[in-house]
Amino acid sequence: MTTPTLVLIPGDGIGQEVVPEAARVLQAVMPALHLVEAEAGWGAFQRHGVSVPPATLDAIRQAGAALFGAVQSPARKVAGYRSAILTMRQALDLYANVRPVHSLPLPNARPHVNLLIVRENTEGLYVGEETSDGETVTAQRRITRRASARIGRVAAHLARQRLTIVHKANILPVSDGLFRDTVRAVVAETRPDLAVDELLVDVAAYHLARTPERFDTLVAPNLYGDILSDLAAVWCGGLGLAPSINLGDGVAVAEPVHGSAPDIAGKGIANPIAAILSGALLCRYVWRNESAASAIEQAVATALQRGAATPDLGGTLSTREMTDAVLAALGA
Ligand code: NAD
Ligand code: IPM
Ligand code: MN
Repeated sequence: MTTPTLVLIPGDGIGQEVVPEAARVLQAVMPALHLVEAEAGWGAFQRHGVSVPPATLDAIRQAGAALFGAVQSPARKVAGYRSAILTMRQALDLYANVRPVHSLPLPNARPHVNLLIVRENTEGLYVGEETSDGETVTAQRRITRRASARIGRVAAHLARQRLTIVHKANILPVSDGLFRDTVRAVVAETRPDLAVDELLVDVAAYHLARTPERFDTLVAPNLYGDILSDLAAVWCGGLGLAPSINLGDGVAVAEPVHGSAPDIAGKGIANPIAAILSGALLCRYVWRNESAASAIEQAVATALQRGAATPDLGGTLSTREMTDAVLAALGA
């Protein structure tokens, strides 16, 4: 077996603080893991004139796995700049964004939430085609049978008993109708045992806010998945704890759901758990090392149960001390 290699891409802001900590945890469960570092983000754009240098894309393709921290994006349009994460998703054809949300043992936490959001990651409004004549702006929203079928296959594979298809086919019968019908057809073919239902995206948001326990797996077009995953992140304890992984064929980039958090960057107090749990997703989905993935998830739960908490959770631990608590729970 070849040595597994992971490309670390800290990026901007708290990405610089949480990615090295997640790497310490990964090395504790997979001592043979080979780490290399690469650049991406706003800082990289300022240094190289491009948010994802070609060397970074090459390194990810070669390793097949990367852990990305976060990037900061300028609030206004900057000529030549494109978000690093969007660039990576497109250039590497990372077509499935998998975002699990589990209840964690935190005071006042909502128990019994264990859901998975499977977000189409390459099209919809994210094709980034906006045109304007100064008075009217038109944004393209592309839905293809091909992308809907492949995200449907991922969702069908990952769902346990039930898959909920999220769409807005009441106002977009052609585009969202294609998404819904294609996913249904793929599921019927590949997982006939799976119960399938569907929800309009606004109603899905309502049920996710009210009764998140009722969900198993949701599959959604790009922007609906983006919005619903931040909403659902509330149930695992907030953005500091929510992991995700972008999957393509033979290549994956794991990343915490949160951004660069400029309000706390540089203080050493960012919660590293979202990045650490994203590392667990690499173990599960890329290296097929389920025991390493569950060991990390169990250690995070144990550390939280013992009261380990960064300021976002009402505690006083630093980023490094929080990681130390996870490592202690791992017995490392
Ligand atoms: P954010 O996720 O960076 O922060 C939102 C709030 O959550 C802030 O108060 C922040 O302090 C807190 N927070 C986030 N992660 C935390 C952690 N690990 N520990 C403790 N607290 C945490 O969202 P934002 O402030 O809207 O965006 C900041 C920048 O990040 C923007 O430039 C945005 O474009 C970018 N962004 C990037 C990504 C990404 O790289 N995937 C995702 C979202 C936002
Ligand atoms: C996410 C983020 C990105 C998205 C941004 C930073 C482009 O919000 O990963 O959820 O919209 O996909
Ligand atoms: Mn988002």
